[in-house]
Amino acid sequence: MKIDLRSDTVTKPTPEMLSTMLNAEVGDDVYKEDPSVNALETKVAKMFGKDKALFFPSGSMANQAAIKLHTQPGEQLITDKYAHVYNYEGGGVSFNSGVSCKLLDGHRGMVTATQVIGAINPPDFYHSPLTSLVCIENTTNKGGGACYDFEEIKKIKQVCEEHKLGYHLDGARLWNALIAKKESAKQYGDVFDTISVCLSKGLGAPIGSILIGDDKIMENAIRVRKILGGGMRQVGYLAAAGLYAIDNHMDRLADDHKKAKEIGDVLEKLSFVKHVEPIDTNIVIFTIDGDEEDFISTMKSKDIYFYGMGQGKLRFVTHLDYTQNMHEYFLEVLNTVTFINNKAAHIQ
Ligand SMILES: Cc1ncc(COP(=O)(O)O)c(C=O)c1O
Repeated sequence: MKIDLRSDTVTKPTPEMLSTMLNAEVGDDVYKEDPSVNALETKVAKMFGKDKALFFPSGSMANQAAIKLHTQPGEQLITDKYAHVYNYEGGGVSFNSGVSCKLLDGHRGMVTATQVIGAINPPDFYHSPLTSLVCIENTTNKGGGACYDFEEIKKIKQVCEEHKLGYHLDGARLWNALIAKKESAKQYGDVFDTISVCLSKGLGAPIGSILIGDDKIMENAIRVRKILGGGMRQVGYLAAAGLYAIDNHMDRLADDHKKAKEIGDVLEKLSFVKHVEPIDTNIVIFTIDGDEEDFISTMKSKDIYFYGMGQGKLRFVTHLDYTQNMHEYFLEVLNTVTFINNKAAHIQ
């Protein structure tokens, strides 16, 4: 039994999802003639109470398109030092939009309105880049699946309004936050100018993200997507997976969160575990007293896979394909790990 806790992106479509995909009605989406894509976009726009939604192949492309829509070359966006748009999108912020990032030293990937105020360059001070966008992430990836307090999100919105800044949410795992905090999509639609959400993470679709916004900001989105190479043809087969995922895999995210917490409870009791970060959703980040690489390879010998994140941090991510059986076996194995001289991990 292979247990893959590297990421929630490793899931494969369920038989039911696959069958829905095979039966999807499709057309040429570059001509906007794909009924399944159109249905997905209409459904998601409505969920968030926004005018428009546009299907993208990836979360990175949806974020990059949003940044392009909000900025002009030479300008600056404000984000956290852990942000996916800054760390893991290949330098796309500068490559695609000619924009720089002012990084904030937030808590678990989350920033405050006060920090944002302090990072805005005065618009009349022409020596500095013009600040035009604030981009936050919820839940945070590198921050360990942390969820923002919605009051802080609203405070940042107020700052954006006062300073005429765009406000984009990288909501790759927003679904997890909605379930964990019992929030609604509409609530987020009311606050942000643009939101990207992923279908291919907790929801378990094989591909797909959606960018959501009102008519004015989204007017040029389809052109930017085309420029980035994201115009796709009979892509309704994939949109159908997304529709299925939204209808069937949303509520079960609570199960991923529960399993993550149970993993955390076991970690807390292990003598070689130094620290477990708070667990809000499906990501568990922890540090150990011992050789991380050795721990990773020892677990690999039991067909259990996960990543080190650098700086001594290790990560488990729970997801749709991590079953109850796997969970029980994994916790059992975890409980049998010991370290010899703080070095070699050993399974009894
Ligand atoms: C917070 C966050 N934003 C954006 C993305 C990008 O998604 P994709 O891999 O579909 O480009 C990811 C992917 O892991 C992510 O964790």
